[in-house]
Amino acid sequence: MSLSKALSLMPRRKLTRGPTPIERLERIEDALGAAAKGIRLYAKRDDQMTLGGGGNKLRKLEFLLGDAAAKGADTLIATGGRQSNFARLAAATAAKFGLSCELVLAPMVPRDGAEYDRNGNVLLDDLFGARIHHLPQGVDATTLANERAAELSQAGRVAYVATLGGSSAVGCVGYAACALEIQEQATELGHDFTSVVVPNGSSGMQAGLVAGYRALGLDPRRVHGHSVLAPAEKAKIATVERANDALALLGLEPSVALDEVTVSGDQLGPGYGIPTQAMVDAVRLMASREGLLLDPVYSGKAFAGLLEDIAAGQYGAGDNVLFIMTGGSPGLYAYASHFLGAERGSPDVRER
Ligand SMILES: Cc1ncc(COP(=O)(O)O)c(C=O)c1O
Repeated sequence: MSLSKALSLMPRRKLTRGPTPIERLERIEDALGAAAKGIRLYAKRDDQMTLGGGGNKLRKLEFLLGDAAAKGADTLIATGGRQSNFARLAAATAAKFGLSCELVLAPMVPRDGAEYDRNGNVLLDDLFGARIHHLPQGVDATTLANERAAELSQAGRVAYVATLGGSSAVGCVGYAACALEIQEQATELGHDFTSVVVPNGSSGMQAGLVAGYRALGLDPRRVHGHSVLAPAEKAKIATVERANDALALLGLEPSVALDEVTVSGDQLGPGYGIPTQAMVDAVRLMASREGLLLDPVYSGKAFAGLLEDIAAGQYGAGDNVLFIMTGGSPGLYAYASHFLGAERGSPDVRER
């Protein structure tokens, strides 16, 4: 069965308006001297989806919502860190489809204060009308979400629980669909993308892309993940498991092996959600050179990884490198003091 046919059999609620644009990053190429090395850089604008401020999680939510509807759900329960982009988009999606939404948010990052606790995604969760359960340290979010679903069920309601950043097999299918979308765009553009660079948090986006490329008969190693949550080896194992689960769900052969998945741990720094200078520099470079917004937790670190890999000579003449802009810019407001108070790093950042 083709990937396209397999996808058409999955329940889905359309949240995107056609393919997201692919744009050349020429001013970044100039700043890096990448053009001189013959490397062409592109951004896929998954940050440009409209609902709820947009971002990569909408692709997962299309299939999660489809599954929820097929199960008759009237409530969406999502878990995440306090500044979770997935939680924000789950709340926006629930608002759009008339579902109740409850968010179970855990303190995954050692930060507090008004900037972090009452701004960015937390502010938007509230505007979208979600009921928020802020967990103290040490309480497991998935357990609490399942307990809450059981309570609602006793009251005659039907809750759909989406944990792990939406990276269940169902959620991962959203990025298998994205692999197909990228390849259709590559055909239109007349050139293939030799590498696709992504952040790896709960591993679902990379897993979905890997599953998609496998299903298309293309090498999944073209997807380069930069882990922002787990050590690289752990993220790699999770990516393989999720890719194979997604393939099985689609009715395709779950045949992805460990050595077919590429994840780097170089940008994790001190840990999940903890800023690094390389991330701050990468966010500033993308903003000041292209007018585009990365986020401090995921895409900022992944783009920093891409910049370092280019500097290290990992890419060469003729490479068309596609970076997926995953959204998450509301997170910038929760980290404002790291940017406004931070020394500007590389000369490229100061240069206009
Ligand atoms: C903005 C953004 N980019 C990337 C990711 C990583 O996606 P995944 O968790 O599927 O690895 C996330 C996950 O929360 C995100 O919010």
